[in-house]
Amino acid sequence: MMTDVLTDLPAHYLSVADLTGAQFEALLDLADELKGERAARTAAGEPLARDTLAGRTVAMIFEKPSTRTRVSFQVAVSELGGHPLALSATELQLGRGETIGDTGAVLSRYVHGIVVRTFGQERIEELATAATVPVVNALTDLEHPCQALADLQTFREAHGGFAGRSLAYVGDGNNVAHSLMLAGALVGLDVRVGHPEGYAPDPEVVARAQALATDTGAEVVVTTDPVAAVTGADAVYADVWASMGQEDEADARLAVFAPYQVTAELLSHAADDAVFLHCLPAHRGEEVTAEVIDGPSSRVFDQAENRLHVQKALLARLLV
Ligand code: CP
Ligand code: NVA
Repeated sequence: MMTDVLTDLPAHYLSVADLTGAQFEALLDLADELKGERAARTAAGEPLARDTLAGRTVAMIFEKPSTRTRVSFQVAVSELGGHPLALSATELQLGRGETIGDTGAVLSRYVHGIVVRTFGQERIEELATAATVPVVNALTDLEHPCQALADLQTFREAHGGFAGRSLAYVGDGNNVAHSLMLAGALVGLDVRVGHPEGYAPDPEVVARAQALATDTGAEVVVTTDPVAAVTGADAVYADVWASMGQEDEADARLAVFAPYQVTAELLSHAADDAVFLHCLPAHRGEEVTAEVIDGPSSRVFDQAENRLHVQKALLARLLV
């Protein structure tokens, strides 16, 4: 296992591109190990908690709703022997105008790590600049880097590796698409994004991913043709058409995104053993049909579970 590269992780994990490809894969290796150990201990009826974070507290600030991220981070910290502190922005002085920088500086005096879900990437960057403890991005409008770790752990479980393989993301060029492009570029997995006109991923993120991909030989392709994106892919990935904060646009997006729904027909253009992935929450009948997400190709609940394992790996190495 190549976990030695994890001794020099960056101070914070705000973007997938903060890691090297070797670090990204080493975190996946550690996550696999932690997953196996948890299963073995559960089967043997043994205690799950380690003492990796004993006596340490990890604060989590949520400025948007969350099911998976909130619970998987809380459980991850608990199982590493630490104390999770989930904080809703509306209950903090943040909700009354205290700056996110001051919030980060103050929390750093109490806790050993801060996990943040917020809106603009500049908010988490402001917090990280003021913080003196590691800060982890639990989703911003620009990226969802913890999700990308779980996504590629799930991809690797399905296909054994990344070289010569491809993932097609179909839908909005959003935070999840951005982190997937960067992650694919780092580990040598081709990523093709198929999006409606007007909903392309951020050109700066595409350029960054394409630049990173020159080291691994991965291809990062952006197209408005969903069939071209999916053809031959080893995984087909969908996300909601309207992200958190875009609720007002949800109705208008339905018609624009309809040709990008992941149906059994669209999936039939992918490789025979292609898996279907979705970060969840899903809207059956919108970005994916029930037939696909509830069908034999779907790995969405493994993917949700893997959030726990990758975040444990990340916290165990970033905070200690
Ligand atoms: N995938 C994900 O981040 O889910 P939550 O919004 O429920 O945390
Ligand atoms: N793109 C979605 C992901 C949710 C996990 C959003 O930002 O709402």
